[in-house]
Amino acid sequence: MRIIPVDLGHCSYRIVLGHQVFAEAETGRLLAAAASDRKCLIVTDTTVGPLYADQAQASLVRAGAAACSVVTFPAGEASKTLSTVATLYEAAVSAQLDRSDCVVALGGGVVGDVAGFSAATYMRGVSYLQFPTTLLALVDSSVGGKTGVDLAAGKNLVGAFHQPSLVVGDLTFLGSLPVREMRCGLAEVAKYAMIMDVDFYGELMANAQLLLAREPRVAERVIARCCRLKVKVVQADETEQGMRAILNYGHTFGHALEKVGGFSRLNHGEAVSAGMGMAVDLASAAGLSSVDLPSRQDDLFSRLGLPLTASMPDVNPDDVLAAMQADKKVQGGRLRLVLPREIGRVEVLDYTDTERMLKAIEGRLG
Ligand code: NAD
Ligand code: GLY
Repeated sequence: MRIIPVDLGHCSYRIVLGHQVFAEAETGRLLAAAASDRKCLIVTDTTVGPLYADQAQASLVRAGAAACSVVTFPAGEASKTLSTVATLYEAAVSAQLDRSDCVVALGGGVVGDVAGFSAATYMRGVSYLQFPTTLLALVDSSVGGKTGVDLAAGKNLVGAFHQPSLVVGDLTFLGSLPVREMRCGLAEVAKYAMIMDVDFYGELMANAQLLLAREPRVAERVIARCCRLKVKVVQADETEQGMRAILNYGHTFGHALEKVGGFSRLNHGEAVSAGMGMAVDLASAAGLSSVDLPSRQDDLFSRLGLPLTASMPDVNPDDVLAAMQADKKVQGGRLRLVLPREIGRVEVLDYTDTERMLKAIEGRLG
């Protein structure tokens, strides 16, 4: 079991990681500090709830929660909406949650983002805990306090920064995660290597097979390393005034791919994987990185079983570019892109050469 501190002044918290961590006494103590004598509302989805809600509920009751109810919404990105948030507010009212009570997000990034946003806004803000159950949520979305929902106009267009008061990641939950979802998480894992840790690139190249096989020690080591990398960035720039933007590597392309695919053709991790391919091709074509960087990134992605392209040959690159221009990373009409210089180093640039962008998009659509 590992405990990673997140030092954010009065919003500081801990990330507990390991196998069977809900059975550990230290987890019980941390849960008690966060939830005892409070009413808890577990928010989960229709896949995760039947698998793990009883266990989460039992842990919270053992930790002294005053009451613990569960609300479930349909699994998937299509639920990441304001209308789901409205049903969560209703559930919070039914469970008589007041400002001293707490929300518990049990699930992947969709549950975490929606539950976190509901917690950020219900009664002007209640505390919430993250119990991440996907690899993507373990290494990325449960940490750092970004919460929100999608609008028809684009991904994550409504949201709030709201840090959880505790993150408990039980890696045994990964045992039931479909391979496709495991790969989505690996896209975010590979992202950390590309943006900020060249040694991690080497470790992932060496251990890709073990990681794909969910070998417990390798999985725990890799997940903890990702959390530490993310914590370092979030501690330096909690509300993305500057360097936190590097965590969006591949995401401006990826969010656009998700949108043109109607949020159903590609999962988030798949879109980000193809998006990082577009970004590295663009960087190389623009002379910002060496010519072999795309193939070095592709080598790692192939080892991890990640898609190198979006597999959407029918999509028009102009539509992807238009969706990118509607992204919330556009500032004053300028498109800000995270582009790699070398493995482990990226730069955030205003990028205006639309011809090159269209070429990079086209090259990875098929
Ligand atoms: P998800 O939450 O939709 O989970 C993927 C699927 O796996 C769902 O069907 C879910 O029910 C199922 N599932 C979850 N845990 C399971 C388990 N242990 N066993 C079996 N099935 C399980 O998707 P995700 O990939 O976890 O998250 C993607 C979302 O996260 C996107 O909306 C993205 O925008 C968001 N995100 C947010 C941040 C952030 O910082 N807040 C960072 C990255 C991504
Ligand atoms: N996943 C991007 C961020 O947390 O900033």
